[in-house]
Amino acid sequence: MNRIFAALLSLSAAAALTNAAAAADAVKGQTLAKRWCAACHVVAIDQQRANGQTPPFSAIGKTPDLDPAKLALFLLVPHPKMPDMNLSRAEAADIAAYIVTQGK
Ligand code: HEC
Repeated sequence: MNRIFAALLSLSAAAALTNAAAAADAVKGQTLAKRWCAACHVVAIDQQRANGQTPPFSAIGKTPDLDPAKLALFLLVPHPKMPDMNLSRAEAADIAAYIVTQGK
């Protein structure tokens, strides 16, 4: 019972994220990326440098089969070397959409 419930919950979370990704706004994502990510990542071609050993967004954007929904999900889950930025789902989707444009 609980497992089914958990599975349903994660399904609806994935669906919500997919919807958010569909409505994502790469322009907003760029603003967010410059605010939250630029300290550590090179987020745009006009940015000269960033701190640390991080992949530039242009490289992340070129990842084969990059899935914006998965990228947005990754951004929502706190992860060891990156601070928990408390992004909303919409913000994560916007940033993911922006990163995808950087790989083009
Ligand atoms: C405090 C520094 C810091 C900030 C701020 C930061 N990152 Fe990172 N990020 C890192 C580091 C370090 C890594 C490499 C992690 C590793 O190699 O395990 C990384 C890895 C990533 C990866 C995975 C790349 C890959 O190919 O594995 C993505 C995607 C990413 N960051 C996106 C973002 C986004 C989007 C933001 C802003 C919302 C952000 N990061 C803010 C330090 C940061």
